[in-house]
Amino acid sequence: MAQQWTTLAEHILKEEQKIPKATGSLSLLLTRIAEASKIISTHVKHSGLIGIEGLAGKQNVYQEDVKKLDEFANNLLVDTLSESGQVFAIASEEMEKPKILKDGKAEYSVFFDPLDGSNNVDNNNSLGTIFSIYKKGKDFLQPGKNQVAAGYIFYGSSVMLVYTTGKNVNGFTLDASEGSFLLSHPNMKIPKKGNIYGINEGNYNLFDKPVQKYIQFLKKDKPYRLRYAACMVADVHRFLIDGGIFMYPSDSSAPKGKLRLMFEINPMSFIIQTAGGMTITTTENPLDLVPSQLHQKTPVAMGSSDDVKNFVKFHKK
Ligand code: AHG
Ligand code: MN
Ligand code: MN
Repeated sequence: MAQQWTTLAEHILKEEQKIPKATGSLSLLLTRIAEASKIISTHVKHSGLIGIEGLAGKQNVYQEDVKKLDEFANNLLVDTLSESGQVFAIASEEMEKPKILKDGKAEYSVFFDPLDGSNNVDNNNSLGTIFSIYKKGKDFLQPGKNQVAAGYIFYGSSVMLVYTTGKNVNGFTLDASEGSFLLSHPNMKIPKKGNIYGINEGNYNLFDKPVQKYIQFLKKDKPYRLRYAACMVADVHRFLIDGGIFMYPSDSSAPKGKLRLMFEINPMSFIIQTAGGMTITTTENPLDLVPSQLHQKTPVAMGSSDDVKNFVKFHKK
């Protein structure tokens, strides 16, 4: 008999049925994000053909050049979420301020990085989208541990959607012929220890001593393998599957590192921790940080718990 696949839509509905008071709002929201990601993936896969490579001709709040695909993905997600009727606020890495919607009953806010790894657009390498969902609270900016769901879409050699609501982590592969995400990676668990590390080692001379010493340790005896895609989604996905450690530390030119707490670090940390891994700023779990600014950055290391614990030890020596 042919294999019976569970679709993402079925999976989301089944999960919702386990929660007695669920309204269906979160399910609708997740489904909308998945639908938008399929459209983004089509554009990503055709980017060399439809004139959507290259720069949009402006900079974002981080003084980074915005790519046309960043803008396309951002606008599509903003429109999709605005029309969904399920959100009262939308915040994006590509927008200076959140968009507040006057949607009376909506109880969720969504934070997203519409296109992660956008330096890879023009060289046909990996890209992603990251999303993070909160329930309305007394403060708009809440600690990452309050996330009700988070996920990413990885536009790699296949397109995958990985998400969690905090119980477990499930991965779906897009069957392009059917246009459906199918449950290919149920209940994902990160190995307790790996033998791969990922970091922009070109910055080595700018790193603090503990990070330099940790990297030297990784190269000793039985050296770790270095893998770096310059797309956090692609890199973290690799470590989720294979184990190991991903790092974007602070350096003397970027004292807070590069990655953004609300748009990148919190959602990816929620996934890694739910899968049994660990994430750390060097001293704290990023999910415990009380955010003070929408676009704040923080250094981070995440991955297999044994590897991250060892990274922390180097900061205590
Ligand atoms: P974005 O494209 O959303 O700006 O994110 C890029 C991020 C992240 O995906 C990746 O880990 C990191 O930037 C790569 O930075 P370096 O080029 O400094 O290594
Ligand atoms: Mn990013
Ligand atoms: Mn981005």
